[in-house]
Amino acid sequence: MTEQQLKELLADMSLEEKIGQLLQLTGNFFDGDGLATGPMQDMNLTQETVNNTGSVLTTVGAAKIRKIQTEYMKHQPHGIPMIFMADIINGFRTVFPIPLAQGCSFDPEEVEEMAAVAAKESARTGLHVTFSPMVDLVRDARWGRVMESTGEDVYLNGRLAEAMVKGYQGEGIGKKDKISACVKHFAGYGAPIAGRDYNTVEVSERTLREEILPGYKAALDADARMFMTSFNTLGRIPSSANKELCRDILRKEWGFDGILISDWAAIKEIIFHGVAEDDEAAAVLALEAGVDIDMMTNVYCNHLKSAIEKGKISVELLDESVYRILQFKNELGLFENPFKDADEDYDEQAEIPAEHRALARKAAADSFVLLKNEDEILPLTKDDSSKTIAFVGPYMEEKKVCGSWSLFYKEEECVTLSKALQEMSMQTKYTISRGCNTLGYGKSSDGFTGHIESNVTLEELAQMEQEAIANAKKADVVVMALGEYFNETGEAGSKTEITIPEHQLELFRKIVDVNPNVVVVNFSGRPLDLREVDRKAKAILQVWFPGTEAGHAIMDVLFGDVAPGGRLSMSFPYNVGQVPVFYSELHTGRRYVEGSDNRFCSRYLDAPNKPLFVFGYGLDYTTYAYENISLNQNTLKAGEGITVSVDVINTGKRKGTEVVQMYIQDLVGSVARPVRELKGFQKITLEPGERKTVQFVITEEMLRFYDVSMQYTSEAGAFKVFVGGSSDAQLEQDFVLSK
Ligand code: BGC
Repeated sequence: MTEQQLKELLADMSLEEKIGQLLQLTGNFFDGDGLATGPMQDMNLTQETVNNTGSVLTTVGAAKIRKIQTEYMKHQPHGIPMIFMADIINGFRTVFPIPLAQGCSFDPEEVEEMAAVAAKESARTGLHVTFSPMVDLVRDARWGRVMESTGEDVYLNGRLAEAMVKGYQGEGIGKKDKISACVKHFAGYGAPIAGRDYNTVEVSERTLREEILPGYKAALDADARMFMTSFNTLGRIPSSANKELCRDILRKEWGFDGILISDWAAIKEIIFHGVAEDDEAAAVLALEAGVDIDMMTNVYCNHLKSAIEKGKISVELLDESVYRILQFKNELGLFENPFKDADEDYDEQAEIPAEHRALARKAAADSFVLLKNEDEILPLTKDDSSKTIAFVGPYMEEKKVCGSWSLFYKEEECVTLSKALQEMSMQTKYTISRGCNTLGYGKSSDGFTGHIESNVTLEELAQMEQEAIANAKKADVVVMALGEYFNETGEAGSKTEITIPEHQLELFRKIVDVNPNVVVVNFSGRPLDLREVDRKAKAILQVWFPGTEAGHAIMDVLFGDVAPGGRLSMSFPYNVGQVPVFYSELHTGRRYVEGSDNRFCSRYLDAPNKPLFVFGYGLDYTTYAYENISLNQNTLKAGEGITVSVDVINTGKRKGTEVVQMYIQDLVGSVARPVRELKGFQKITLEPGERKTVQFVITEEMLRFYDVSMQYTSEAGAFKVFVGGSSDAQLEQDFVLSK
């Protein structure tokens, strides 16, 4: 449609019809069997309201969506189609590693490829929008949703947010096999006090601007067409009522002209925050803030009309939102083709396409982080018939390896570790025993996919344990596949103890007692406190929730066909008492030097300041040396660049891929500055003995921050640049910014 036609359409719509565009409901309102029951009554909706609904969430299936859209359009007064949206977080039918794991790949191209596959599979099932990327900066591993973010670092998050948006949207959301991104949760949702989900967020204006907002902005700069508000208050204002955030910053300052949707029921929750006294007041606050779509409440649809009639809000403000939604539908091409790419044949194809599986397998291995590898116990060998490996642990048979946001995949299509192992041809002997179940005795777990109960008896558990110990005793090496249950992270998955579940740790202790050669393969959606495992195991491979190809990718890495490619996107704390812990902290006035016994410093008496494993860290099956850091000049002027060169050498015996990281430290600023900040990274592959010179260019833009008067600028003075294989990079050079 032309702009003119869209405007004419808007002018012709009744008030009810306009308000309907702002309503989003789940698909079960449209499924056909008896609309006037269940959900409609619970939400106090009339059939007329449902007939005017603008969009649907969480319904998939080409045939289903085609049917719903067809039926719906018969009743919609102007035949305006609905938009179909869902949470496609780390893949649709092909499931990729969780976003926190994707962060560990430090590979924007691969992340973009995964998003493009997710977009294709989603588009063919009839979806138009995914509620992704989640770009909330995360530094507190107690928060369950850290798994949905790409981690603790501002720069890495920005690069990967951009990659995801490009992958989903390609050359435009109306194009074939493309869908719109929806950037969430605006803003600051990743920093709830004490890591408790939905809790208050209190950060300074400077921290907000300098650390929290850049991820969202990077996604917008990549042309993300939709944003979602967050549940939390920020500066004591619920985001869905936060005019300064949603209108002044997002729309006016950043120029966002797409749709802003509330998070699930977040407009209603303005009342529970104690910021609106009733539905009508909440509706007024949210519309004033510029929230276009009300996800799953009746606040807009049942209360905007009265608010307009009473003069509490203008119809012009409503029109702005309706027009944005119509424009978005037009951009998707829905007026011409309300089904877009919905394709029943593709949807029903028997197998996951081989190239999607191949990408899932590679991406998983690229996200695995080798945290420890004493005596080079890894990689294991396939070719020694005199040796036996005991594979032990509940994750040997666990199919729930996709993380808590995988709602539409087929569990039976996931490759378990056992299955992958049995497919391999090898001389080395092996045994497989679970040892215990994943959840633990008598435990249950709730999440998006329902209620799950552990149904194993004490007798069965005792037998499983006995068998595992017996197998471990006889083996040369034990591989233990352990970890959190998938529902222990994700939404509403906050925890105050962040260890491997205790019943699994008990098994681990018993196994280590009979065999010291233990390799732990750890599944989790968050950094865990792995102190004990680190003390007792010879090796730790962190595999997160790897997705569909879990088993294959893990065997690829354990047996050395592929090297573990990941470097940590989030610090692993020494213990939970340290969190939030992250590398780019500010200097204090009482700087502590690790190991010093000076008491009156900023330190803990019972734990180090450093996390157990720092951001950017990860071992390979080969080793690297960094040498000869040099700058082409020591003074930087605006508009110019300084080239940093460093030699990276593969000092081991195998080919490897290293993530070379550059960090910068501003020595003196008008406000306190972080101890160092990531400003660049490159992935390079080196043959054994090979040396490559890697170069980065430092520009004045990289040195900008919010100064003492809240101006985003750089300040003349002294800086340090560090290059290395983690945020502990040691090689350094000094330079000066002159103005
Ligand atoms: C989550 C969002 C999600 C939405 C729709 C909410 O509970 O916070 O991230 O997109 O549900 O499923």
